[in-house]
Amino acid sequence: MKLQIIVTILTVIWSRTNASITNTKLCFGENFRFGVATASYQIEGGWNVSGKGESIWDRYTHEHPERVFDHNNGDVADDSYQRYKEDVKLLKELGVNFYRFSISWPRILPTGFINDVNKDGIRYYNDLIDELRRNDIEPLVTMYHWDLPQILQELGGWTNPVMADYFADYAKVLFNEFGDRVQFWLTFNEPLSFCQDGYGGNDAPGGQASGFEDYMCGHNVLRAHGKVYTLYNKEYRDQQQGSVGITLDIAWMEPITTSQEDQDAAETARQFTYGWFAHPILTDEGDYPPIMRKRIDENSKRQNFARSRLPQFTSEEIQEIKGSFDFLGLNHYTTFMVSPGDNKTSTVPSFQNDMGVKTSQKAEWPKSNSTWLKVVPWGFRKALNWVKNTYNNPNILVTENGISLHPGLHDPKRVNYIDGYLRALHDAIYKDKCRVIGYTYWSLLDNFEWMRGYSERFGLYEVDYESPSRTRTPRLSASYFRAIATTGCLPNDYINYVEYTLTD
Ligand code: NOJ
Repeated sequence: MKLQIIVTILTVIWSRTNASITNTKLCFGENFRFGVATASYQIEGGWNVSGKGESIWDRYTHEHPERVFDHNNGDVADDSYQRYKEDVKLLKELGVNFYRFSISWPRILPTGFINDVNKDGIRYYNDLIDELRRNDIEPLVTMYHWDLPQILQELGGWTNPVMADYFADYAKVLFNEFGDRVQFWLTFNEPLSFCQDGYGGNDAPGGQASGFEDYMCGHNVLRAHGKVYTLYNKEYRDQQQGSVGITLDIAWMEPITTSQEDQDAAETARQFTYGWFAHPILTDEGDYPPIMRKRIDENSKRQNFARSRLPQFTSEEIQEIKGSFDFLGLNHYTTFMVSPGDNKTSTVPSFQNDMGVKTSQKAEWPKSNSTWLKVVPWGFRKALNWVKNTYNNPNILVTENGISLHPGLHDPKRVNYIDGYLRALHDAIYKDKCRVIGYTYWSLLDNFEWMRGYSERFGLYEVDYESPSRTRTPRLSASYFRAIATTGCLPNDYINYVEYTLTD
């Protein structure tokens, strides 16, 4: 046996033994919920069947296959449009309490507007919801996971203020059609990601105006969210008794040293990335974080713009958006180290220049198959604590956490990731008193990872993209997650799972 293997075995045994000395069995309590997540464009396929309209991701991947890492698209993806019953079987097999999926706006409203409601789209989600309920799996529905009807993009997409009303119209259709059986709603998934990457980066629709359009997008998304929350309160809450939230993504921003400058830079980064959306919704005063307002106003002035590149809310909008959540969806994957950058000399308007910090990741942090995603479980605990302290300990549902790896069924690194992050979560709940009501692993299945195509696999189940039936096969991590979801506890025989590392 090679020395390295012996050392690894001893290290694993030592760390497990140590963990069990301090905490024999880590359990999450009776009311804690476990689930898994997916999103429509990433799994459904059926991109142009049964009346579905074109989405910005259909258009973008068809027009620019060269921009996607493997030149692929979501035309077929996991074919879940045909195979949703198989998916529900897998969910049952996993023993999860809920399934987070998203509804494709253009499948429901092919023109983007409510003048034309696609019956087959309604039928599809009705079937999925009913199948879930028959299997005692709670549906958790994201209304918008990035697949905007292309037709609305022709009007400027999220940069156009009228989008807030169109989104509320769409939400009304969803509440009317599905609200009798859906109790948990998320308006948006990760506005930070889709506004930054879609309007100032490489994602669909391919906008390249960071420092302008990303702010407009964020503004209209927040307005849209506020309107939908009000709509639910006024017209549906009494009868349907559900909960409405939003999913915001948080990467932990750790100061690179303990110096005041680095700590300030890290806090600025948190406010620009998370506070951008959280401050208007979760604080008593509402509106954008003061540091964002100040920096963008100052930079805009210095750059000779007539007005700030960060739009202003009306006081009615501030009031409407403030407190517009019953629970907070939180996506977390990784951590960055932060130090001060330059936000005062650049003449180029951009989000990065406005934020004015430098971010990096440590070389020693374990890697995934995504460049941005390093394994740093302690960052999860710190992020949850920061949210608790900054926003008065809101009720949080972790709506995504996961790791990408290469294809393959033996994925001890995924087991290790889940184990590490759940231990951090356990500390956040039981030692730090963060209010977290559930945990969602991303993802149930391998799927279309946006600009990375099918090259980065997040699934508990592997999908064979060569097979016409898109065969789904459980990975080692699926049995590990099953053990957690069915008992509410981290399994004592963790060693049996990670031991696979040694034979890999
Ligand atoms: C965030 C997004 O919500 C999801 O669509 C994506 O696949 C995962 N993170 C992994 O990058």
